[in-house]
Amino acid sequence: MKLLVTGAGGQLGREAVLAFTASGHDVTGIGRGDLDLASSGDIADVIATYRADWIINCAAYTQVDKAEEEEELAFTVNRDAARAIALGAQQSNSRLLHVSTDFIFGGKQATPYRENDKGDALSVYGRSKWEGEQAVMDVLSEPLILRTAWVYGAHGNNFVKTMLRLMSEREELRVVDDQIGTPTWTQDIVGAMQVLMEKHANGIYHYTNEGVASWYDLAHEILSVAPTLGYPVKAEKLHPIPSSQWPSAAQRPTYSILSKEKMRKILALDIPHWRESLRNMLRENAS
Ligand SMILES: NC(=O)c1ccc[n+]([C@@H]2O[C@H](COP(=O)([O-])OP(=O)(O)OC[C@H]3O[C@@H](n4cnc5c(N)ncnc54)[C@H](OP(=O)(O)O)[C@@H]3O)[C@@H](O)[C@H]2O)c1
Repeated sequence: MKLLVTGAGGQLGREAVLAFTASGHDVTGIGRGDLDLASSGDIADVIATYRADWIINCAAYTQVDKAEEEEELAFTVNRDAARAIALGAQQSNSRLLHVSTDFIFGGKQATPYRENDKGDALSVYGRSKWEGEQAVMDVLSEPLILRTAWVYGAHGNNFVKTMLRLMSEREELRVVDDQIGTPTWTQDIVGAMQVLMEKHANGIYHYTNEGVASWYDLAHEILSVAPTLGYPVKAEKLHPIPSSQWPSAAQRPTYSILSKEKMRKILALDIPHWRESLRNMLRENAS
């Protein structure tokens, strides 16, 4: 199949380009240099020229704290450009897989968020992504929207890579322990994308790894595993702290668990636990 991946330089976009190319697809990855999604140019027309069977939209304004002061830019990229990409998909008769986030939810629930729960984001980033989903659904009758959470992988910037660096530099680290979610490996997300596309799925799906963790739990696991794989580790102690001791511009959900019931049915596969996927990512990254 002919695929167009936007955000191809980002952590998920890069993984998607590599994995879909390895599976034999004809993949074009584009980044900001090819098409600036914050520009006033005709994004839809440019997208349509690729004549892709599927467009995988991994591009997004993802700087959660900075979005609080760059609201207009966040909405331009995450809502307006998402709409334009959907219009481009419509023009070229392409299917669109649009990636979204757990941060569209406010975290006030005590049970996993389901696909049809209403967004009540706490941050500019979350609201811009929620409105991006609505924009895509306004344009296309059968979009595929994949929400995921707490993403990490070999490419780009993420919590796991930051922790590995900090653990090699410092003896003690403080890590937030009152926000819970599910760390999710980019390779697993791209695997889920492949299944959804093969099955011609449409609508909203949630996909994360299995299990629940706080940022502290994730850091603790990295600290347990990394030295066994040869990573340089100086850190000896992790201190759990509440979010109130880690001031940030954007408010984040304290409870960020996505229900995967719908995804389990279509996948017909076991979803890996986050500890297993973390170990696999660390092992690959070490070699
Ligand atoms: N990271 C997470 O924890 C997480 C969690 C849940 C959902 N998601 C969603 O997953 C998707 C992929 O996120 P990610 O983690 O891969 O993010 P990422 O590493 O920040 O990648 C985002 C990509 O979007 C591109 N982009 C940003 N502004 C652009 C613009 N004006 N024009 C063109 N390209 C632009 C970036 O290009 P540059 O490299 O040039 O800036 C980057 O390649 C997003 O939809 C995000 O909302 C992420």
